[in-house]
Amino acid sequence: MRQQGAILWLTGLSGAGKTTIACAVAQELQKQNYPVELLDGDIVRTHLSQGLGFSKQDRDINVRRIGFVANLLSRNGIIAIAAAISPYREIREELKQTTTNFIEIYVDAPLAVCESRDVKGLYAKAKAGQIQHFTGISDPYEAPINPEIICQTDRFTVEQCVNQVLHYLETQGLIIGWHMLSENK
Ligand SMILES: Nc1ncnc2c1ncn2[C@@H]1O[C@H](COP(=O)(O)OP(=O)(O)OP(=O)(O)O)[C@@H](O)[C@H]1O
Ligand SMILES: [Mg+2]
Repeated sequence: MRQQGAILWLTGLSGAGKTTIACAVAQELQKQNYPVELLDGDIVRTHLSQGLGFSKQDRDINVRRIGFVANLLSRNGIIAIAAAISPYREIREELKQTTTNFIEIYVDAPLAVCESRDVKGLYAKAKAGQIQHFTGISDPYEAPINPEIICQTDRFTVEQCVNQVLHYLETQGLIIGWHMLSENK
């Protein structure tokens, strides 16, 4: 049977854990020889979306572009993993309706936790007024209402979140013969 593709769409605040989970899921799938491609927001913005800013209009264009590429991959049997804040619900819903096997993954951590992680030092800058349009601080984040998966990264480990995603893919018949990662391995 031909391998089915999918779009794993990770949305959430900066520092919530999208890139971390996306990379770990990609690594696991690659180990099992599934064709995978990663579309990370930061990387996309230096290539495909270079020059776009963070206004609603530019963010929407960015998300639609990522969705467009992810769909090309998905419909050709590849598991496309997109990790972008993608703060606006309407555009994510649009992608869900217009793409092949779109799976919305809400990477959820409270703003205070993301701020305390401040992986890139951006929250400090945003709070000092040095960055405009910063999601969660001076720009909105519209959480998914009905995501296929919620990864609560303040309560579960990276490995547990990866297991959650892979388990879901298995229940959907998108991967087969998967064994849960064990923390003790
Ligand atoms: N369960 C978890 N899943 C993912 N990340 C976690 C988890 N627990 C702790 N973390 C930590 O949270 C941080 C998440 O950073 P990451 O760069 O993945 O966020 P991001 O959502 O991609 O942010 P941005 O939108 O700015 O790119 C990392 O330091 C990671 O180690
Ligand atoms: Mg990231």
